[in-house]
Amino acid sequence: MPAFAVIGAQWGDEGKGKIIDYLAGDVDAVIRYAGGNNAGHTVVNQKGKFELHLIPSGICWPGVYGIIGNGVVVNPDVMRGEMDGLAARGIDVSNVLISERAHVIMPYHIIQDRLEEEAKGAGAIGTTGQGVGPTYVDKVGRVGIRVGDVLEMDTLAPKLEQALAFKNKLFSQVYGAEKVKPAEILAKCEEWSGWMAPHVRPTEQLVQDMMDEGKKVLLEGAQGTLLDVDHGSYPFVTSSSPSIGGACTGLGLSPQSIAGVLGVFKAYSTRVGSGPMPSELEGTEADYLREKAQEYGTTTGRARRVGWFDAVAGRYSVQVNGFTGLVLTRLDILDGFPSVKICVGYRLEGRDLDRFPSNTSRLAQCEPVYEEMSGWDSPTASATSMEQLPAAAVAYMKRIEELVGCRVQIVSTGASREETILREPVVS
Ligand code: IMP
Repeated sequence: MPAFAVIGAQWGDEGKGKIIDYLAGDVDAVIRYAGGNNAGHTVVNQKGKFELHLIPSGICWPGVYGIIGNGVVVNPDVMRGEMDGLAARGIDVSNVLISERAHVIMPYHIIQDRLEEEAKGAGAIGTTGQGVGPTYVDKVGRVGIRVGDVLEMDTLAPKLEQALAFKNKLFSQVYGAEKVKPAEILAKCEEWSGWMAPHVRPTEQLVQDMMDEGKKVLLEGAQGTLLDVDHGSYPFVTSSSPSIGGACTGLGLSPQSIAGVLGVFKAYSTRVGSGPMPSELEGTEADYLREKAQEYGTTTGRARRVGWFDAVAGRYSVQVNGFTGLVLTRLDILDGFPSVKICVGYRLEGRDLDRFPSNTSRLAQCEPVYEEMSGWDSPTASATSMEQLPAAAVAYMKRIEELVGCRVQIVSTGASREETILREPVVS
């Protein structure tokens, strides 16, 4: 059976967690392929409200495997804390498995994240401070420590020694910070190896075997396409590939095995951290939208920047991922607005620009061109069928489809699993 991917189409926080929990009842495994505990996926179902950072969002369904692929970076303390928290609430976590090839976020990566951000001053990225960027840098720099390394203590020491020799020079000589003690890191690894071992697998093989046996798998994106290290608003991006290419490399999965790629868009835009956002709102309008939607980060608690739906960025996202269908989330937040706007183009130095520019300094200079549409008075909140949606809300959705060039298959009208409109089946 094929795999289906669920991918953030904007700057993250599109509501992927809810959608994955909704779809996971029809699959055998949910698999994370990129990012780390910089993600914050909120799931609300009959069992309660869960805020997940690392454990895949299908975990509330009994028997569904939650797999963390090789492309993810893992802080074992966070993984353990999340698993213990879930177990304490009666959720079975024995099906949580992790790739032996996934890289480990070490305590020194978290320190490095903070030192780098402080050193950048006004140019800081506004990272989540979880050590994600420095861990990917070490991976690509070939001095990373992988989950499999942690399980083999006899071969771990020389790898750590090599990594720390350089790291300690960086900390002490560049940043004037304290050195990391190798013995402390080794002790940490020893503690991790004890409880992690039963969860570690060659996940690329495991996932392939599952699909050969006719099982269905859902690939869980984290962050969003506009934060992709290649395709996003560089350098104000995360350090992984949240878009569809990352799903193949982050799991060891062939592109042919992916039958559907669902792009998740929020009905408006949000962004957390620095970097340009052409359709950003300011002042009372922004405050109203932020408060109504409670747009505060799940991982850091930071207030999210908010704005109108950006169809230029949206079209780019559809192109980069080849979405086969879309999910439109948080439509209910726009209930009661007298009118709603969509950014349909950018103007740069007096000229029209119809595509998302690669130069982020130029993106920052882009003026949004808006199309204004009628709002709707009657609520979309909690609607479960298209017939329940007001005509103006449907017109808004259809205009987005037209502008980005892809059909909406699911509409989310509230936080809980039930508050969902399935316009057409997506994982069959
Ligand atoms: P990092 O991933 O912690 O290195 O942060 C890099 C940028 O990505 C910052 O602007 C973060 O706010 C943003 N970011 C990382 N993860 C998420 C997420 O899950 N949702 C939204 N923004 C994120």
